[in-house]
Amino acid sequence: MSTWANLGLQDSASPLMEQLTFFHDHALLILVMITVLVGYLMFMLFFNNYVNRFLLHGQLIEMIWTILPAIILLFIALPSLRLLYLLDEINEPSVTLKSIGHQWYWSYEYSDFNNIEFDSYMIPTNELSIDSFRLLDVDNRIVLPMNSQIRILVTAADVIHSWTIPALGVKVDGTPGRLNQTNFFMNRPGLFYGQCSEICGANHSFMPIVIESVPVNYFIKWISSNMNS
Ligand code: CUA
Repeated sequence: MSTWANLGLQDSASPLMEQLTFFHDHALLILVMITVLVGYLMFMLFFNNYVNRFLLHGQLIEMIWTILPAIILLFIALPSLRLLYLLDEINEPSVTLKSIGHQWYWSYEYSDFNNIEFDSYMIPTNELSIDSFRLLDVDNRIVLPMNSQIRILVTAADVIHSWTIPALGVKVDGTPGRLNQTNFFMNRPGLFYGQCSEICGANHSFMPIVIESVPVNYFIKWISSNMNS
């Protein structure tokens, strides 16, 4: 999760988020090079007195400063497209979780397992325990197995919400009347926090998401204990 003074991306917990981080760094490096070059040129303009009273056209330089930026943009566009289609790829998911956005909480359904369903509300500040996070912890966490392909189906019951987990590189809108699909693969255990990212009303900030990433045998234990009740 994000903590104090963390201005960059969060540590990735999935291979796709790792790729997104690589792409971010790549794009940022190109951005820095352009900014430094243009900044240097603009700065140096103040300190020269080159004047050419007969300058009317420059075919060659215009060719260069048109084609060169286009080539630079290709170096961003092609990796971006690669990632876009990689994010869409779904490889035989072993668990499907359906998350439904409501004003203002999320509810979840494990459709593969006797249709376990529950609501997940933020824990209000006055009910927090000493080790929980304000505005981020929920009463019922999502439990999912690590090292498994997981499919997420997102929808909403009232207005548009957005199911967003930065550490997993997942951000999908929950839209009433639609069922959106995404997927991820968690490569380590832990708690992964997220929040709704679609301005959905007065308590938009108060519908966080918590995933508990656990080994597969723990997940089986959890799911079977919930199926019996
Ligand atoms: Cu739901 Cu913002």
